[in-house]
Amino acid sequence: MGRSSSFLPLLTFLVSLFSLPIHSLSSTDSLVFGGCTQQKYAPNSPYESNLNSLLTSLVNAATYSSYNNYTIIGSSPQDVIYGLFQCQGDLSMPDCATCVARSVSQIGVLCPQTCGGAVQLQGCYVKYDNATFLGVEDKTVVFKKCGPSIGYDTDTLSRRDAVLAALASTGGQYRVGGSGDVQGVAQCVGDLSPGECQDCASDAIGRLKSDCGGAIFGDMFLAKCYARYQTGDSHIYSNGHHDHISSNEGEKTFAIIIGLLAGVALLIIFLTFIRKVNKLHMFVKVTGTALNFMKFLEWFAFGGSFAYLFFFSQ
Ligand SMILES: *[C@@H]1O[C@H](CO)[C@@H](O)[C@H](O)[C@H]1NC(C)=O
Ligand SMILES: *[C@@H]1O[C@H](CO)[C@@H](O)[C@H](O)[C@H]1NC(C)=O
Repeated sequence: MGRSSSFLPLLTFLVSLFSLPIHSLSSTDSLVFGGCTQQKYAPNSPYESNLNSLLTSLVNAATYSSYNNYTIIGSSPQDVIYGLFQCQGDLSMPDCATCVARSVSQIGVLCPQTCGGAVQLQGCYVKYDNATFLGVEDKTVVFKKCGPSIGYDTDTLSRRDAVLAALASTGGQYRVGGSGDVQGVAQCVGDLSPGECQDCASDAIGRLKSDCGGAIFGDMFLAKCYARYQTGDSHIYSNGHHDHISSNEGEKTFAIIIGLLAGVALLIIFLTFIRKVNKLHMFVKVTGTALNFMKFLEWFAFGGSFAYLFFFSQ
């Protein structure tokens, strides 16, 4: 085996490492929930190409707006497809674009060849379907999560209630509020009218309060809006709540891979140096054995990168 072939796995590893969205370590891009329809479309069908153009349009639109909708009309009526994305109001344009791109790739993984799919990341929401849902208010609970109990901290509880009440009375598609260490946020999907948004948000906030009673954090996602809050205590659990743990582990994995990569790079430099300095046959032989070891290390790094990719596709 020549030198070049021994570098192939390393190169693949490097490419896969750098093509990873580094941003995925931030909480805005971590998954909250995803869902897919039962029905599937046929591979290489017109529906599939319409879906691809829809998803491409969504990713492009997210570079200049925080909400947009598309209807792709195919050559036949059954190939029509509807889709939209909504970034949380506080996301900057580049962050919104990154988030939507990440959602689109997540949908592909979660919903292989399904007629409809939806993904909510911490910072954005993406949905597509062949049945129209654009401009339709929908208050179905799609995801709910409550943290552990605050306990007897009535002070925090009353601040939480005040924050939720303020969120309900503030108008707008995106609402944010805080009191002390309690923070709350509410967001409507941009296709709702102000009246529908108010109705949806009030519903989400009401359910959040009743369902997550005395929890240190709560998330209530309805089909067209959501409301969330967290208290200072929830920082122990996290920023992204359940997702934070995986994000920490992700950073650890990332550090391990970087460490491995650095080790491999050092070995290559060292061995190249040995090879140049020692032209003696015996040394070449020794280096040859070391090169085999290095090849092993490269494959190890290669495997590590796969493990890393697998980890992030969860
Ligand atoms: C969506 O696609 C599925 C499968 O192709 C089909 O059964 C269903 O009727 C379609 N829905 C609409 C609204 O076209
Ligand atoms: C969809 O997008 C078009 C063009 O941006 C806009 O005119 C329309 O109001 C949108 N529809 C909904 C339901 O948001």
